[in-house]
Amino acid sequence: MITELREVMMNTPEINESEPLLLIHDLHVWYELRRFGFGHAGYVKAVDGVNFDMDEGETIAVVGESGCGKSSLMKTILGLNIPTSGEVIFDGENLSKLNNKGLRRYRFKVGYVQQDPYGALPPFMNVQKILEEPTLSGGQQQRVVIARAMLREPKLIVADEPVSMLDASVRVEVLKLMHALQESHGLSVIYITHDLSTVKYFSRRIFVMYAGNLIEKAETRRLLDNPLHPYTHALLAATSDPDAHNADTFKEVPPGEPPSLVNPPTGCRFHPRCPHFMAGLCDVEFPPDFEPEPGHFVACWLYDPSRRAERSSVEAQLQ
Ligand SMILES: Nc1ncnc2c1ncn2[C@@H]1O[C@H](COP(=O)(O)OP(=O)(O)OP(=O)(O)O)[C@@H](O)[C@H]1O
Ligand code: SF4
Ligand SMILES: [Mg+2]
Repeated sequence: MITELREVMMNTPEINESEPLLLIHDLHVWYELRRFGFGHAGYVKAVDGVNFDMDEGETIAVVGESGCGKSSLMKTILGLNIPTSGEVIFDGENLSKLNNKGLRRYRFKVGYVQQDPYGALPPFMNVQKILEEPTLSGGQQQRVVIARAMLREPKLIVADEPVSMLDASVRVEVLKLMHALQESHGLSVIYITHDLSTVKYFSRRIFVMYAGNLIEKAETRRLLDNPLHPYTHALLAATSDPDAHNADTFKEVPPGEPPSLVNPPTGCRFHPRCPHFMAGLCDVEFPPDFEPEPGHFVACWLYDPSRRAERSSVEAQLQ
């Protein structure tokens, strides 16, 4: 599977150096919790301060444990969720400034391929005929979903776990199709996945998401060769052999429970699970994005330039 993917995915598309296609600034998406459907009982902070930009023709993978907010982020980019605060600027237009007509026009510029091909195909128009065919497999249905997403000639496709429900044998076919379309149309793709074995052939950059935040962002090769955040380390360690044919999901999640998004931990949200936790800092102050190497961002106090000593000791432990 990997060799085949490598063959078709060798050519990285040209990246447009000018204006980003998509700019996300300090985005928050909170869902209100209501006790018995009435009284306010807090918020699920599914996306809580996300920043990034994306070029035309670029491919980005978003990885992270179940419930960390990946789909909430994507639905907001697709114009399906209203941001609680922050900005989504696509092709120079601020989504929050669009009226209903503008939003409909916007949705033509973005395509959505979701996890479950069966649920993704509503029985209407001529797709109905295809759906009524009892022998249509998940792989074939997902191809229909992709074709439908392409009909409007979008600039961006959001693919939310596009192959996770499919048999390993057809995954590569569907990914090949997506990659071919991405190249031939110069498409931008955001690819959400647990499948680290395909990420490196499909995406120019990887973003690691944890409890509503993007905690590490870097070029794919750089992130896999030199992961910096302790959570990314744990994720990669949990994927025992990302190149093996059957290593298509994280083997296990990093030790400890994913945090509550209603009352997330103070300071760094990973601190209750982090082996390098620094009391009085990590549990108190939220770490900003540090950039220890160009284009490699990590939200962890170990990479504060004034904390080189702690970092060296962690690096020594990891060797
Ligand atoms: N409409 C909603 N109302 C209330 N809470 C929601 C809603 N949608 C998602 N959530 C909650 O927000 C959090 C993030 O959910 P989200 O679906 O974005 O995670 P995810 O990373 O896509 O997870 P998975 O990998 O399982 O698909 C979860 O706690 C989820 O229960
Ligand atoms: S900021 Fe502290 S708790 Fe958070 S990942 Fe870094 S070392 Fe661990
Ligand atoms: Mg999801």
